[in-house]
Amino acid sequence: MSEVNLSKRALSIEPSLTLQISAKANQLAADGVDICNLSAGEPDFNAPKEVIEATSKAIFDGFTKYGPAAGNIDLRKAIANKFQIKNNLNVEFENVMITNGAKQAIYNLFQVLLNDGDEVIIPTPYWLSYPQMVRLAGGKPIFTNSSAEDGFKINIKDLKSKISLKTKFIIINSPNNPTGRVMSKEELLQIAEIARENPNIYILSDEIYELILKKDFNHYSLSTLANDLKERIFIINGFAKGWAMTGWRIGYLVGSKDVIKASSALQSQSTSNVCSFVQKGALEALKIKNEFFSIINNHYDQRRNLLYEGLKNINGIYIQEPNGAFYAFPRLPNASITSVDFCNKALQDFGLVLVPGQAFGADDCVRISCATSNEKIKDGLNRLKKTISKYY
Ligand SMILES: Cc1ncc(COP(=O)(O)O)c(C=O)c1O
Repeated sequence: MSEVNLSKRALSIEPSLTLQISAKANQLAADGVDICNLSAGEPDFNAPKEVIEATSKAIFDGFTKYGPAAGNIDLRKAIANKFQIKNNLNVEFENVMITNGAKQAIYNLFQVLLNDGDEVIIPTPYWLSYPQMVRLAGGKPIFTNSSAEDGFKINIKDLKSKISLKTKFIIINSPNNPTGRVMSKEELLQIAEIARENPNIYILSDEIYELILKKDFNHYSLSTLANDLKERIFIINGFAKGWAMTGWRIGYLVGSKDVIKASSALQSQSTSNVCSFVQKGALEALKIKNEFFSIINNHYDQRRNLLYEGLKNINGIYIQEPNGAFYAFPRLPNASITSVDFCNKALQDFGLVLVPGQAFGADDCVRISCATSNEKIKDGLNRLKKTISKYY
């Protein structure tokens, strides 16, 4: 049979580094190798019982048919209400659409707003799907670099120098994957100022880790701080991380009504509604009390701290304390070995699974997840120490 002629679009997609590493790790585990996996991008607990009960009730009640492409009105209203109460932001249900994970919210947004050649400024290190999704929409990712010594704080001067007449979007993501950085109010206000100076630029604010915060740290939604920019800020959020609902595939997009309308039209011709009964579960998730998140955050605080203290004590590693999400993003001793080679060696020689920084645009770092038990974190730190001693 002749070879398939894939489209230029399909050929432009880079295969996921994370999937390659985990495929290798699974193979080694199947061969009986003792593996310590610190690559998880998802919580290690189950979704809350109330959410599971509400979802299964919805199935038994026959809530299993097609629904509106933009999502169920009751859920859209509940999300709008969350913004009114928690973020002090005047959002109506027409400003909200339900998507197949936060991922689809970002994908839809770029599809409906980017034209060929439009530029999107992405601060590095970044969540690995942003550049790919920009390219899939015909856009061009433009990176602005930050330094590990600055805790990967966005370099405002560099960011400003990357703005051109073609700039359509700036992306911000706080708390951040992969660095765990939480942006301060002042930093967010600087971004708002840049948006004011550049009236044609939109902001994508990815707030998916909103609820996973170190004690005494706050999450500020950019729109709350800069109400005048509300029509140009698009908020991405979802249920995956805070409620441990990664596989449920439910997220949402909040933004101007005309963009939500266009995005719903796109969704109506592609995936249609998000699973109807999962939306009932999400409705219940929004009713979960703060105590639940306090308990979860206590666990994460303790694990994040264990990981951070352990990393600080490994010779040659540079690490700034992460204050949100469930990752640490240490810099390796020097650039004599790429992050991909380092992670391959860590896996091959010591059975340790990490995510290479290259996937996030920072080849001198590795991402380590603490969404796992204390024992695994300690074990992983030991294996990391051995890998560093062997290769540096
Ligand atoms: C920063 C960031 N944004 C968006 C997503 C996508 O979330 P979802 O699973 O809801 O599609 C992830 C998932 O890892 C993420 O880390």
